[in-house]
Amino acid sequence: MDRIRIRGGAPLNGLIPISGAKNAALPLMIASLLTEDTLELGNVPRLADISSLLRIMSNFGLDHSIAGRRPGQSSETGQTIRLTAKSIIDTCAPYELVSTMRASFWVIAPLVARFGHAKVSMPGGCAIGTRPVDLLIMALARLGAAIEIEGGYVIATAPKGLRGGEIDFPKVTVGGTHVALMAATLAQGTTVIRNAAREPEVVDLAECLVKMGARITGAGTSEIVIEGVSSLNGASHDVMPDRIETGTYAMAVAMAGGDLVLENTRPDYLQAALDVLAQAGAEISPTHSGIRVRRNGNGIQAVDVTTDPFPGFPTDLQAQFMALMTRASGTSRIRETIFENRFMHVQELARLGAHIRLDGDCAYVEGVPGLKGAPVMATDLRASVSLVIAGLVAEGETTINRVYHLDRGFEALEAKLARCGAEIERLRG
Ligand code: EPZ
Repeated sequence: MDRIRIRGGAPLNGLIPISGAKNAALPLMIASLLTEDTLELGNVPRLADISSLLRIMSNFGLDHSIAGRRPGQSSETGQTIRLTAKSIIDTCAPYELVSTMRASFWVIAPLVARFGHAKVSMPGGCAIGTRPVDLLIMALARLGAAIEIEGGYVIATAPKGLRGGEIDFPKVTVGGTHVALMAATLAQGTTVIRNAAREPEVVDLAECLVKMGARITGAGTSEIVIEGVSSLNGASHDVMPDRIETGTYAMAVAMAGGDLVLENTRPDYLQAALDVLAQAGAEISPTHSGIRVRRNGNGIQAVDVTTDPFPGFPTDLQAQFMALMTRASGTSRIRETIFENRFMHVQELARLGAHIRLDGDCAYVEGVPGLKGAPVMATDLRASVSLVIAGLVAEGETTINRVYHLDRGFEALEAKLARCGAEIERLRG
């Protein structure tokens, strides 16, 4: 297995191009199952999760092609994928495939909406918490799907098609909102989704669905209204920039010091995180196509943070922020409200010399003057990248094992950081 080795101490200076968002690309790819025409997606990141989803959807009979690289494009320029779900021969997603990636459960929505039948394995728990799918199933039931759970599979049927309905989510769920949105586009009549997720990835999906002929209003607010149509058509759409990758590199430069321009991204996608970083001592300014983040000389201040659905501070940046706070002056309280077990990075950060105390859903991080390199590993991708951030300032050598977690969600991570001065390399296993 590959490992990443970092020698801490070098500041980050230069420019990092931000990739297309994994968490937008996945639902957009799944939306291609709603039409027999071709959906062309640009700015798709080169990531293991994208390849896994392509494999799963190919099993249904989806055809896909990936456009070759154009002259002048680097390996970090997003790829263009064409997806055609014309001859779907199977509407079953087996356990072996769904268990490799939770988001693949979302295929249940377009399959039942378009074909009246879907059988999808329950995804099971994962390292960051139990992560049930009860609300996704509730949403489909509200649209008239008959649901059975048998042998670990969810079987959704609607032989006469789905019909519009009212979906009130008791808690904000990104996956639930994606599923409800996709299913409702082909339902007969009007659907109202209340307490909908307002994440930019939901807006990106809605914009693509509208290009495909869907009638959607209110995406980006907590009430989305969908007028069902009888069929959708093909379209061409570029995946939005990855706000979590943006925030991760912003925290990396706040940690290591230096001056980074993060290109092809948007500050409004992560304003809450940028506000917190500014309070911690980073200088942040917008550029014509992204964000400039600097920290020169001044130290990092402790700031308290609570994760929340968008527009709050994202849970997917909590581990990275905790890494930053290990070097702050003072103690910061980090409260995780989205997932019940998203603190696996705490033990590993402690191996680098961090002082962190856990109490229920809160971590108290007492800043220390220095971290020391060590071999570490993590069990999910955001936790892994928090160790990279810590390694950037740890004295000596930090080796991060289980790099496949990073490959699921960060495109060309070590190349992007190395070009800006970090001493980082991949050791092939
Ligand atoms: C999405 O997961 C993201 N994944 C996650 O990113 C992200 O952390 C999460 O949203 C929150 O922002 C993708 O977009 C592929 P949820 P999702 O449904 O949709 C509970 C990463 O690192 N819940 O918004 O699965 C759930 O347990 C990943 O890229 C139910 O109780 O998250 C959680 O506590 C990790 N029942 C809360 O809701 C349900 O049926 C929010 O989860 C569904 C969810």
